[in-house]
Amino acid sequence: MPFQLESELQARHEQGLLRQRQILQSGQGASLLINGRRYLNFSSNDYLGAASQPAIVAAWQQGLAIWGAGSGASPLVTGYTGAHQQLEDALADWLNVEAVLLFSSGFAANQAVLKALLKPSHQQWQDRLNHASLQEAGSLIPSRMNRFRHNDMVHLASQLRPKAGLIISEGVFSMDGDQAPCEELLQLAEASGNWLMLDDAHGLGTHGRGGRGTLDVQGLAHSRVAVLVGTFGKAFGTAGAFVAGSRRLIDYLLNFARDYVYSTHMPASQALATHAALQWVIKADDERAHLQRLIAHFRAGAAALGLTLMPSVTAIQPLLVGDSARALSLATRLRELGCWVTAIRPPTVPPGMARLRLTLTAGHSVDDIDVLLGALAQCDDGVACDGAHGNE
Ligand SMILES: Cc1ncc(COP(=O)(O)O)c(C=O)c1O
Repeated sequence: MPFQLESELQARHEQGLLRQRQILQSGQGASLLINGRRYLNFSSNDYLGAASQPAIVAAWQQGLAIWGAGSGASPLVTGYTGAHQQLEDALADWLNVEAVLLFSSGFAANQAVLKALLKPSHQQWQDRLNHASLQEAGSLIPSRMNRFRHNDMVHLASQLRPKAGLIISEGVFSMDGDQAPCEELLQLAEASGNWLMLDDAHGLGTHGRGGRGTLDVQGLAHSRVAVLVGTFGKAFGTAGAFVAGSRRLIDYLLNFARDYVYSTHMPASQALATHAALQWVIKADDERAHLQRLIAHFRAGAAALGLTLMPSVTAIQPLLVGDSARALSLATRLRELGCWVTAIRPPTVPPGMARLRLTLTAGHSVDDIDVLLGALAQCDDGVACDGAHGNE
């Protein structure tokens, strides 16, 4: 047998790192139905509650009626429709950038950009906590990968070489919830003649005026970032992703990004629904304000319980646990208490940094947050753990 599947799975199980899926019996929302039981959902990236918005659902249905189920081909063949083009134009207007290209997922968008742009002679500088899609693409391509300490601009500056490639960071870090120092990143990029790529999957929609994300919160124009990535599977409530930048960048990607050229395009109905989601997100100031109130309420309550949360002002509120088995047992206990929480373990986070990744959404009420705080107060570490509960 060329592959050791059994022994590798067994090793993961013994390390408390085995992954399993949970079958949901309900759609996304502030609560979930799993195995016939309802839980408050603190494990969703549907930060604004967009996934269940009637206008977005109706737009998807309307799109199906107009365009049919699938897109039938890759975008350069016959998979690109007016619905895609209108979504790209609306996203470019929203962010005041020249052009936008749609992808089926954020994972694909990140792979596409890195593989298309970086040649063996280039270098890349990645924040150590960048998402797996960035790190994986970066380590598979032949260009030299430098990892700088998380948000450490001094460390980055010490590694930079002039006009050599791409600095890559997230806007809001997916597993920590903190934000990148975008002004400093931009200054380093501009001073060294390198490009900045920012993946703001968790910032766009949730933060900034009209949901324009981390750059807007930090008072920066999106057009200063050479490559901006956003995803639709989080605050937009649908699925897919986009790359925004100059017209030349987008023309280059649609010619050279193999993940784009050789992949069936996202269905037009999905583009129509995502367009409706964009229009909804732009107006969702009440949802964003409510979410901020919930975050403040949760952080105050957690501090009163003596819990040390990571320094995050975003919807991602991780509770660092350290040990994977302990993180699993806490997640299991919280589920017993009616709160669906996910333990995040290596390799998603560095060894010894397992955590409960608690996410709050605008769909929650203050009472829901109080239920979570009450459950956390009841948690003890003596809960048995069988290492097989469904977690990331
Ligand atoms: C920062 C970041 N980028 C990209 C992705 C991948 O996006 P998608 O789920 O659309 O593939 C994720 C997914 O969680 C993410 O957190």
